[in-house]
Amino acid sequence: MPKVMRSGLLAIGVLAALVGAAQGVPVQAEPGPAGHLDPRLPVAERVEDLLGRMSLDDKLGQMTQPERRYITPEEVTRYRIGSVLSGGGSAPTPNTPERWADMYDTFQRAALAGPLRVPLLYGVDAVHGHNTVVGATIFPHNIGLGATRSPALVREIGAATAREMAGTGMDWNFAPCVCVARDDRWGRTYESFGEVPELPAKMTTIIDGLQGDDLGGATSVLATAKHFVGDGGTADGDDRGDAKISEAELREVHLPPFRAAVERGVGSVMVSYSSWNGLKMHQNRYLITDVLKGELGFTGFVVSDYNGIDEIDGRPGFTRDEVAAAVNAGIDMVMVPIEWRRFIDYLREAVRDGDVPMSRIDDANRRILAKKVELGLFERPMADRAYLETVGGAEHRELARRAVARSQVLLKNDGVLPLDAEDKIFVAGGAAHDIGVQSGGWTITWQGEPGPITPGTTILEGIRGAAAAVDYDADGGGVDDSYDAAIAVVGEKPYAEHHGDLTGDMGLDAGDLKTIERLREAGVPVVVVLVSGRPLDIADELPGWDALLAAWLPGTEGAGVADVLFGEAEPTGRLPVTWMRDSAQQPINRGDGKTPLFPFGYGLTYG
Ligand code: GLC
Repeated sequence: MPKVMRSGLLAIGVLAALVGAAQGVPVQAEPGPAGHLDPRLPVAERVEDLLGRMSLDDKLGQMTQPERRYITPEEVTRYRIGSVLSGGGSAPTPNTPERWADMYDTFQRAALAGPLRVPLLYGVDAVHGHNTVVGATIFPHNIGLGATRSPALVREIGAATAREMAGTGMDWNFAPCVCVARDDRWGRTYESFGEVPELPAKMTTIIDGLQGDDLGGATSVLATAKHFVGDGGTADGDDRGDAKISEAELREVHLPPFRAAVERGVGSVMVSYSSWNGLKMHQNRYLITDVLKGELGFTGFVVSDYNGIDEIDGRPGFTRDEVAAAVNAGIDMVMVPIEWRRFIDYLREAVRDGDVPMSRIDDANRRILAKKVELGLFERPMADRAYLETVGGAEHRELARRAVARSQVLLKNDGVLPLDAEDKIFVAGGAAHDIGVQSGGWTITWQGEPGPITPGTTILEGIRGAAAAVDYDADGGGVDDSYDAAIAVVGEKPYAEHHGDLTGDMGLDAGDLKTIERLREAGVPVVVVLVSGRPLDIADELPGWDALLAAWLPGTEGAGVADVLFGEAEPTGRLPVTWMRDSAQQPINRGDGKTPLFPFGYGLTYG
């Protein structure tokens, strides 16, 4: 029976009962569907009813999250799988919004084909827009959003991201990262809203945007606060390293954003790969169960990171003991992309041997199933293709352009900015005309990559939209003193996670430095626009620059950078992280007594 028919008959039944009751005529309401399928019942009642119908294998399947490339729809049905994910860059072919919706619907129909008709959750990293989908709006990465200091703007971005996800069916976002980045050498610094806890905590409004006022909205998607806890506090910024800090510091610096996320009703929390004082977070029962679920009162469900349980014992692959340790620590769903059959077998053995109590399995299932009921997945399981038109639409791109402008931080200006539309401008630099570079990691692919990887407006195109006389050469060839100003758009190539960890030099690469020098030799004012996921070591070169604008990783709407360069928008951004004077100062943060080049909160305006 088509979905609309079923709900229609149900509504008629309920209406008849209400009318009859109003007339004092005892009317037997239409018999509802099985308890867990009855939307008239309270969430907890539906969950308990369903739990009572489930076998052990039903329950183990709900706790299992394979990656889409390693499971077939038929296996989703057979193993009662509760969730599937797209890992970074894992997209259908062709990578179009419609094809994503087709893929989602195929997996969802398979889940619904199970005897209990339990829908699945499909998880994806939409960390700066629906960033794996070609054509989606790519917003600034979190470090740029932190510079805006605008929780309201970030909430709007969450809502826009949720709309683009809803069109493709994706109902679970592994975002926001609420990490507190304490060492800029960390490859995930750009995923942080800032180096002090109050900034990520304030920006948890993105959860409201993603989930809506309540989880049952037409475009509500489940949000994920990640990575719990202390991922941004590891020694030397080592991704997946060890946060060797006191509990007092862990609670003061890294826990507050999770408290804020829980208070906003975040539906899931993802555990960090990192360790705290030598113990892997994926087996830290005290922090996951006692602190997160107990002290903070988190009632959603906890998901592991990708193959996160493999790293518990420090050896490749996972053992039955690691499975038991992770589940007993309080992880409710395990992201086990490839070896998911073996995971299910190990967990079944652990339950049968009494190493994992049935109460833990039931608690995990209650948490997962409650979110599925609250999301309305039992009533509206399929992609809502009405929202496909929002993917990369003008409204969202305009929002992104505004966010880009508000994320710009003006660090130096010897009077050359704002530029004038009548100026004769020379543009150079490897980041000037490259959507992939200006979007950074987690864009179409996991690591991101240079090139025209998705539709958008490069920073150069934005500049060309603002001024009539603009010449461009990536290396600065052809520049001379006939120009009113030269703009060098330079910075980092895309990276993600540990691939972005820095252990040595944090300066600009030789090519960028040479380009800037060529512009300077022409004897014209030089404006440097830095496209990077973090502060870079530029103190020695700064005196030779007439202006410096931190653009961070703006995403597809590069015109927002030009809006600030030409004064269409005031520079209002303020540093979300301290800007080092020298990489030897790392880690360097507000209040640590070190003297930075630019302090946390710094930012110039034109006024
Ligand atoms: C990655 C990341 C995590 C992401 C997950 C799924 O390794 O650590 O942030 O959500 O795997 O892609």
